[in-house]
Amino acid sequence: MTQEGFSIVILGAGKATRFKSERPKLLHELAGRLLGEYVLRTATGAGADRIYLIIGHKAEEMRKAFTRPEVKFIEQKEQLGTGHALIVARPELERCPSNVVVVLVGDAPLLKPETVTKLVATHRKQHAACTIFTTREGNPTGYGRIVRGSGKRVRAIVEEKVASAAQKKIHEVNTGILCFSRRPLLAHLAELSQANAQKEFLLTDLVAIFYRHRLKVAAFEGPADEAHGINDRAQLAEVEKMLRLRKARALMAEGVTLADPERTYIDEDVTIGPDTEVGVGVSLRGRTRLGSGCRLGPYSTLTDSILGDGVTVRQSCVITNSEVNSGAAVGPFAHLRDGAVLGTDVKVGNFVEVKKSTLGRGSKAQHLTYLGNATVGERTNIGAGTITCNYDGETKNPTVIEDEVFIGSGNMLVAPVRIGKGSYTAAGSTITKEVPPDSLAIARTPQVTKPGWASERKKGLTHNSKS
Ligand code: UD1
Ligand code: CA
Repeated sequence: MTQEGFSIVILGAGKATRFKSERPKLLHELAGRLLGEYVLRTATGAGADRIYLIIGHKAEEMRKAFTRPEVKFIEQKEQLGTGHALIVARPELERCPSNVVVVLVGDAPLLKPETVTKLVATHRKQHAACTIFTTREGNPTGYGRIVRGSGKRVRAIVEEKVASAAQKKIHEVNTGILCFSRRPLLAHLAELSQANAQKEFLLTDLVAIFYRHRLKVAAFEGPADEAHGINDRAQLAEVEKMLRLRKARALMAEGVTLADPERTYIDEDVTIGPDTEVGVGVSLRGRTRLGSGCRLGPYSTLTDSILGDGVTVRQSCVITNSEVNSGAAVGPFAHLRDGAVLGTDVKVGNFVEVKKSTLGRGSKAQHLTYLGNATVGERTNIGAGTITCNYDGETKNPTVIEDEVFIGSGNMLVAPVRIGKGSYTAAGSTITKEVPPDSLAIARTPQVTKPGWASERKKGLTHNSKS
């Protein structure tokens, strides 16, 4: 482990001033995951011996979000700079079993694990004390510039704030990702100081320190698109767009049709089976999983939901924490939420809301209906405009509708209530009592018809207006 392996320190303690947020930057969402989640996955994927996460600003929230067996938290109570973060980590680094330590910044989520291992391999091959992951940026503003001395040797990293006009023209930049041999790092860490224009302990100052001690500093020029740092919300949106396009391309390669990849919003952890077609403007959020051969019309949002195979979701549906089984059809304009479960071949049509309810195989609720806390059996039909009155002002009460029931249009089912197997309820009924199986329940005011009433009324009106 000690000879071949490496450990990773992730810097994440900063206050993210440019984000202008109460929340730490790494707790902001990016394509359905926390920003910090990306670099942690990269670190795990790269096979680090140890992963240290430096936390500081809102440390408890950070711990809560990122606790996992492989991550060791190090608290940097005062954030005096990226170099200070390593000074605080010193006791851990003394005990670290690896002879190589890679420093990652928490706000560069596009970095791939294989790039980290390549960086380490280059570091070892070059017998360097420090290897900087550099890129060439068309617009290098904001990055530390790589300053080379005689023989092109890396002499220093100069931060934007203190760079001279000539240095600002350098396009070779520091990605913030650096690889160190542990021994020289620990030997010279104490030489960092706050005696610079930023009045911070800058990790990047170690490069000049190493240069002075004639320790070798190498540069590893890696892919620029992996190095994008997120310092403000505009960059958050840019990176989000890049991630979405990357995800879209991966899905299309796996046989998913996307009507318009640039206007489809699919989070990183979403999975979709082949031959599923996703309409324009669809958002698939969180841990949503779609089977194969599904068709999603435009502008639906599915969050943490599961669709079986061959499911149709028509235009503008909102489906949250719900499950739709194979062959079912939903929408347009339907709302499933809070653990709604639609069985195989169920049909839920327009302006239907289903909350915490189950519909058995082949059942239908096609128009203008609310089903809350309801258990509906198989092959049951819920008439248009039916409502389960599940809330009595204090508690939510259950409605049970058994198999092969026919609920007439415009029913109020006042819960708790049960409709037995094979029964019918008349249109416009307000059902307050249990309906046994195989029955017809009519619960509405009998109709009174008064022949000639209308013309009588009109006559009366004419008479009155004359007087
Ligand atoms: C840093 C680099 C810069 C590089 C750029 C790439 C330094 C001094 N500068 O600048 O050369 O081009 O990244 O994106 O390293 N942090 C702590 N403790 C602190 C201060 C910061 O843990 O006391 C963490 C932050 O939370 C962040 C990371 O370090 O995750 C980088 O800090 P940030 O302020 O974003 O540095 P940049 O200005 O981007
Ligand atoms: Ca940054």
